[in-house]
Amino acid sequence: MRVDVVSIFPEYFAPLELSLIGRARAAGTLRLAVHDLRTWTHDVHRTVDDTPYGGGPGMVMRPEPWGEALDALAPPHASPPRLLVPSPAGVPFTQAMAHELAAEEHLLFACGRYEGIDQRVLDHAATRMPVTEVSLGDYVLFGGEVAVLVILEAVTRLLPGVLGNAGSLDEESHAHGLLEAPVYTKPPTWRGHDVPEILRSGDHGRIARWRREEGLVRTARRRPDLLAALDPAGLDKRDVAA
Ligand code: ADE
Repeated sequence: MRVDVVSIFPEYFAPLELSLIGRARAAGTLRLAVHDLRTWTHDVHRTVDDTPYGGGPGMVMRPEPWGEALDALAPPHASPPRLLVPSPAGVPFTQAMAHELAAEEHLLFACGRYEGIDQRVLDHAATRMPVTEVSLGDYVLFGGEVAVLVILEAVTRLLPGVLGNAGSLDEESHAHGLLEAPVYTKPPTWRGHDVPEILRSGDHGRIARWRREEGLVRTARRRPDLLAALDPAGLDKRDVAA
């Protein structure tokens, strides 16, 4: 997968050298390039923002550097990338979207700062490529950089060969619309707390059932919205009893 990121703070992306993302880059599974938006400015101050039309606080990112950046990274006659613009006004980022993005050939992230990017940049880009404004949640960050780190981590771990044990993708939270059951390792007793007996029973059928029930109970308590959205066709009688 090819990924380009445009930001006025390329230094934010240093962690992408580390751990499994760093390894995916070294292996060529992920071809990631981070670009400084100011490369596409032409004045001595390398200006990227200006005051908002209509008034109000803060600054808005000017369209010209963004237009040139997108022309350079998504040339009009080449196969277009999918443009992602992190914003608290975007559609919610979910595990389902992470899977969708993991199937793309080329992602291009535009990191806004201040009050955001002039809307015409997105409107013009949408004439050439699919554009998605995406939100991490109902809170406001300083800019899109941290959101891109989160999205890239969620997407990269779904790429073939990135996770050592791909089986863990099937068991984790959100894999089937439920939260994951709690996990334990040795020792069997620690500070007076025991590992649930069933996990030490060796009975794989009962263990799978226990994990399913714990996942259902956790989801009901913590995320009733997820439980309400579950497809009843995916439930069995034992789930209903739990
Ligand atoms: N930029 C600022 N706040 C954000 C959020 N909640 N999600 C994505 N991008 C953002």
